[in-house]
Parts: sequence; structure tokens; C-alpha cells
Amino acid sequence: MKTQVGIVGGGPSGLLLSQLLDLKGIDNVILEKHTREYVLGRIRAGVLEHGFAALMREAEVGERMDKEGEIHDGFYIAHDGICERVDLKGLTGGNSVMIYGQTELTRDLYEAREKIGGKVIHNADDVALHDISTEKPYLTYKVGDEEKRVDCDYIIGADGFHGVSRQSIPKDAIRIFEQVYPFGWLGVLSHTKPVSPEILYAKHPRGFALCSLRSQAMSRYYIQVPLTDKVEDWSDEAFWQELKTRLPGDIADKVITGPSIEKSIAPLRSFVAEPMRFGNLFLAGDAAHIVPPTGARGLNSAASDIYYLYHAMLAHYKQGDDSGLEAYSQKALARVWKAQRFSWWMTNMLHEFPDNSEYEKHLQQTELEYLFSSQNALASAAENYVGLPF
Ligand code: APR
Ligand code: PHB
Repeated sequence: MKTQVGIVGGGPSGLLLSQLLDLKGIDNVILEKHTREYVLGRIRAGVLEHGFAALMREAEVGERMDKEGEIHDGFYIAHDGICERVDLKGLTGGNSVMIYGQTELTRDLYEAREKIGGKVIHNADDVALHDISTEKPYLTYKVGDEEKRVDCDYIIGADGFHGVSRQSIPKDAIRIFEQVYPFGWLGVLSHTKPVSPEILYAKHPRGFALCSLRSQAMSRYYIQVPLTDKVEDWSDEAFWQELKTRLPGDIADKVITGPSIEKSIAPLRSFVAEPMRFGNLFLAGDAAHIVPPTGARGLNSAASDIYYLYHAMLAHYKQGDDSGLEAYSQKALARVWKAQRFSWWMTNMLHEFPDNSEYEKHLQQTELEYLFSSQNALASAAENYVGLPF
């Protein structure tokens, strides 16, 4: 098979790029290792920057998001027994975020790909990238015992953190920047009315907690846990109890509990691979960078990569202008690092770090006090949360 753009990975990054390119008549194929059901089974965050929501509309997949998603004009930070609001709309001159689960967004993208005959090959085994430093890169994969080949102009590595694309770049051509945090998040999804109509981050001496939601009937809660904890250690009852302990009393009293639909532990990690281009391979999304979920930048950073890649591909195929492709890595990374900074800042401000000195604890507390005492500090937090310009 021959195509213009070969995309490895059918997560949100690969699907969104594929959809945008198809709408402009740029031929592309997605090779996805798993089934569609598997991809849709993963529960991830659900906070979309306003610029990402606009990109979804441009990709003609914004209809259900606009109908079922919620626009949030602010979020809360609870600490020291009080709860303070960050007024996103007021602080940014009218911007907000869209609450719409990644699972729903991925489903919409799959349906849109199907509707316009997008080529998504599922269960593609042993995907391998070849000749990526040449003008004629190609992909191979297996379906059963049969090996297939896709010749492309460009390959997009959108196959997530554990994918094969980043690993295909020679070790001496890529630099890794990484930080792992000494804790994880235990998350619970439950069919209950969320305790807070807007997302609420909580700092508590027993550890961080987060009250989020997928809709006004579906809650998503998290608590910080040691990396040694296992999901089996946490009964639903123990989870609710610990969550309530970490919230201000009046909010804890209002938590509506129920059986968990999904319960999992995710470690927290910051990771960036540089550059995001090697020859004719372009990395995008989790394949190139990971953030801790505090601040909800993960999916949004993937979307900004796709924004730059899409425009670069358009300029190449429609105007013969390669400047966007040349600048991709540098442009994408400039924004990626700002998202890294914001996630790192929020993570550091709100979590309990077992090894922090008394001095560091004092600074952490001062960070919060400064935030809520300065309109400038609040405006900075808000402009990052709604999403910096592309
Ligand atoms: N071959 C083909 N497909 C692969 C391979 C491989 N070797 N390895 C992984 N994949 C597929 C995965 O099955 C997955 O569907 O690539 C896809 C990558 O999707 P994600 O991990 O979701 O990454 P991405 O699309 O960049 O999404 C951005 O933002 O909120 C964060 O982590 C969250 O997934 C989210 C990400
Ligand atoms: C979520 O709803 O899963 C969520 C929300 C905000 C975050 C992280 C995760 O910062």
C-alpha cells in the first residue's frame, strides 16, 4: 500500500491528525496495535483547552462535544480547610475549558473516520518503521502471519509512551528529560453526582485529592497514594473515607458515594524527548512527552502537536512550503515545555512529598498563599489552564 502520511497509533493524536488531513484530501493510514474497544476502554482525563475544542470543531467532530460537554469558567483549589476559586473566564478575558471525556472524544473521532472512509487498521502487530532518515520511509506490520508494507512520504509516531516510534530513533539522536514523582494517583469513576460542579484540586497533609467529573451524573475522583499501594488494597469504602478526610469538612459532608465503575493507580511522571523529528519521522503526543495529570495538560499537549503538524502538512502538500515541517520540533517543544512547567508547578504545589524538608514545605505553602493574594499570579495560572496560544 502507498500513502502520503503513515500514522502509527490510533489514540487521540493519531485519530485527530488523520481526520484533519483527510478533510483536506491528504491521504493517510493509521496502524493501531489494539482493537477499537481496547482503545475506548481506557479512562483518561477530560479537560479540553478552548483552542483544542476549536480544533475538534475544525475537524468536524465537535457536534456531540458541544452538546454534551460542559463549559467550565473556573476551578477550585481547597487547602487549609478553605476552598478558593480560580476564575478562568474573568482572569483570561473570556476563555474557559471544555469538560468532555477523552473516551467520548476518541469515540467521536473513530465514528468520523468511519463516516468519511478513513483508513484505520486495527490489530496491526509488530509495526516497524524503516528508512526513516531517507526520502522513502515505510512501515511494515503483520496481520496474522501475513506481513504488509505501507510506503509513505512521512511517518507520524503517535503511538503513545510505550510505542515503537520513539524507540526507532537512534539513541544518540534523541535526548530524554525525565522526572518521576514518588507517588501515584488512585482514580475512581462512579455513577454519582459530583460533589463540586467545577473541578476541585485539594491539598491536604495526608496527600493531594481531586474531585473531577465527566458529567453532572458521573464523578471522577483521585487521591495521591504511595507507589507501593495496589488497587486491591483499596476497597471502595476505604477510598471514599480517605477522599473525604482530605477535603474541607463542608465539602466532605456533601460527597455522594457509590460503587466504583473503574478503579486504577497511575504513577506520575514528567518526560520529554527532544527533538520531535528524526528524518521523515515526526513524533506527536505521548510518544514524545508525558506530564503528571495535575493541571490536565496531557491530552492538550498532544492536541497542540497535532495543530502544528496539521498546518505543516497542509503547507507542504498545498503550497509546497516546508517551513512548517522544518520548524515543527522547535515550535511543538516550545509549547510542550510550557505545559511541562505548568504541570510540574501544580504538582509541586499541591502534593505531599515524603522527603520534603521543613523549608520546602514552607515554600510550598507560600506558593499557595501568593497565588491567592495576587491577581497577576492567578492570571498566570488561569492563562496556562485554559491553554496558551498555539
Ligand atoms: N503499533 C501500533 N500502535 C501502537 C503501538 C505500536 N507498536 N504502540 C502503541 N500503539 C497505540 C496504542 O494502542 C494507542 O491506541 O498507539 C496509541 C497511542 O495512544 P495514546 O497512548 O492515547 O497517546 P496519544 O494518542 O498521543 O494521546 C495523548 O494524552 O491525556 C493524555 O495519556 C493521555 O492518551 C492520552 C494522551
Ligand atoms: C480528570 O477528570 O480525569 C482530570 C481532571 C483534571 C486533572 C486531571 C484529571 O487535572
